[in-house]
Amino acid sequence: METLKLAVQKSGRLSEKSLQFIKECGISYAWNKAKLKTQSYNFPLELLFLRDDDIPKYVADGVADIGIIGENVMLEKGKTVGLVEKMGFSRCRLSIAVPQTSEYNGISDLNGKKIATSYPVILQKHLDEQGVTAEIHEISGSVEIAPSIGLADAVCDLVSTGSTLLSNGLKEVEVILRSEAVMIATPGLS
Ligand code: PRP
Ligand code: ZN
Repeated sequence: METLKLAVQKSGRLSEKSLQFIKECGISYAWNKAKLKTQSYNFPLELLFLRDDDIPKYVADGVADIGIIGENVMLEKGKTVGLVEKMGFSRCRLSIAVPQTSEYNGISDLNGKKIATSYPVILQKHLDEQGVTAEIHEISGSVEIAPSIGLADAVCDLVSTGSTLLSNGLKEVEVILRSEAVMIATPGLS
């Protein structure tokens, strides 16, 4: 039997629940955190531990057969992969937030503003749909710091509990996508 290669996030929001799912499937394997690849000893499955952002590309290219990632990452990367199923965990939303002190009356207030995000593709599409012209400033992490250091007027980032926004003096003003973990498969497999 051929070995199925499953890509999961190495560490972060999705990894713990992804591994719990694999355990609940009865798949056993030996693993230590330094190892990026391991073979199950009771199932023809190999686990690859990767950066979540890289998983859509690996699955699209067939380096991994299937993968577990956030739907937000799947949409942002725009790779051709099959959606096998929604996993029901790691629910979050991609939202626009502005400083608590800013007045906000609607999305047209973002015209001519600068928005920091790690999700430029999804954000641009949403702004286009809403007829808003804003400048998108792409940063790969700690997005919520941007307004307080004068880098942007607003942010577009993932919100789960909302505590990161609160701690950084921001308020959520638009939800642009609701997301959860999904299983994706290489084209032709799903
Ligand atoms: C994510 C996201 C937000 C935060 C939201 O960051 O980018 O910053 O979680 O969660 P909360 O609403 O529960 O506070 P993550 O920890 O994945 O780090 P990163 O943004 O640097 O990837
Ligand atoms: Zn990430």
